[in-house]
Amino acid sequence: MTNRKHLLAGIILLTILTTACEQSKQATSTVRPPTKEEVTKTIPQNTQPELAQVTEGTRQTYQWYCTQCHGIKGKGDGINAKFLTVPPRNHTKAQYLETRTDEQLFQAIKFGGLSVGRAPCMPAWGETLDDDIIQSLVQYIRELCQCEAL
Ligand code: HEC
Repeated sequence: MTNRKHLLAGIILLTILTTACEQSKQATSTVRPPTKEEVTKTIPQNTQPELAQVTEGTRQTYQWYCTQCHGIKGKGDGINAKFLTVPPRNHTKAQYLETRTDEQLFQAIKFGGLSVGRAPCMPAWGETLDDDIIQSLVQYIRELCQCEAL
């Protein structure tokens, strides 16, 4: 009799646990990076890509893909920063970013750190992000540093 009780309790517990897991799976599957449409939807048509604007989607893209290393505010203090041999660039530091052109920043993001003579621990995003999104990330970094190429 006690065995059957245990078995029954076991089955109930298992059911509760698996449904709980299913629910949390469903909940997290709706969390995703912004789509290209979400990044570009507020950019007016006919805008030259080099004049890309920063949208809410740009900020979300940065939060999704870049903050682990570069930090939530772009200060280079992300949660992964201390595990990297070369510290992630501080995107709020005008002193360095003024020495880089928009093209160089674009290239660093698209093809990775190595492509511009920087560390390979800055990954390449060209397979993940479209050019106009990368362009808007460059503009966002210009916002963070409140600077432009000298
Ligand atoms: C795995 C960690 C990591 C992630 C994620 C990451 N970066 Fe970086 N990033 C770095 C590191 C490290 C450097 C510094 C490279 C150096 O100074 O040699 C860097 C440098 C840069 C630079 C400056 C390049 C230069 O000229 O020095 C830019 C711009 C940049 N990252 C943009 C981004 C953007 C935008 C994203 C998100 C799409 C991103 N990074 C995601 C690690 C990362």
